[in-house]
Amino acid sequence: MSRVAYVNGRYVLHRSAIVPIEDRGYQFADGVYEVCEVFHGALIDEKRHFERLAYSLAQLQIAPPLRHGALAIVVREVMARNKVENGYIYVQVTRGVAPRDHNFPCPAVRPSLVVTGRQVDPEKGELIARKGVSVITTPDLRWKRVDIKSISLLPNVLARQLAKESGAYEAWFIDSSGMVTEGAASNAWIIGENGTIVTRHLDHSILRGITRTTLFEIIAAQGLRLAERKFSLDEALAAQEAFITGATTLIMPVVCIDGKNIGSGIPGPTTLKLRAIFHDIAARST
Ligand code: PDD
Repeated sequence: MSRVAYVNGRYVLHRSAIVPIEDRGYQFADGVYEVCEVFHGALIDEKRHFERLAYSLAQLQIAPPLRHGALAIVVREVMARNKVENGYIYVQVTRGVAPRDHNFPCPAVRPSLVVTGRQVDPEKGELIARKGVSVITTPDLRWKRVDIKSISLLPNVLARQLAKESGAYEAWFIDSSGMVTEGAASNAWIIGENGTIVTRHLDHSILRGITRTTLFEIIAAQGLRLAERKFSLDEALAAQEAFITGATTLIMPVVCIDGKNIGSGIPGPTTLKLRAIFHDIAARST
């Protein structure tokens, strides 16, 4: 089956889909994106993803290319045309196409919108989760507004490549005070000896992960303790359990950080439990 992408108002063959060379996303990384999970034919936490997209656009003063309802129709059409039952929807909006100039185009041009879909085998993630993943750490070289889900991802790309070359799955960014901020494409979590689940508080230094937000609800429903605060690499190394969250990883156990085992070096029971019940609580919209 040929994949189909939505590009600026048209559904086109994915492999031959193109954008103009003066798209500001291409030249300046002047745009934002969302990745939304599809599970058993349903979009997971669509509303929260759309809200975060609106936030990112507003922070960069990019006009929404479509109203929510229209974007939802496009997303569903991309799911249908690509027969995405389990996988991801990718939405990217850039400031549009204009002669290269750092200033915003004046008058403003139409923002560019691309939506793609990808089917994945959910069992693959489950197999990885059963073993857990390794993480390496690397200095957080990103800009100071990573709360915006910008397509400008060079430090993330370099960190993920470093992880891959080190035989790890993810890289955790460490800020200048030795504190963990988040993963290159995920939020970072630990569980301490007293069972408290810890993840960094929200500010401009991490992305407000949608999986993170939904997990807060699960933690509360389970009567578990949560602390939103900074934690250091040393604290992570001494933790009972660690995990990452993201639309593409869900709740993924971390069993090793910088070559050192976390707990007994196998996925922790609380992490596995949270992963198992995630889809029961995450909001599904068809
Ligand atoms: N990334 N932090 C960063 C830096 C991320 O890139 C992501 C997700 C997250 C988790 O956010 P969410 O739970 O909303 O997926 C946190 C996506 C999956 C990506 O770039 O592919």
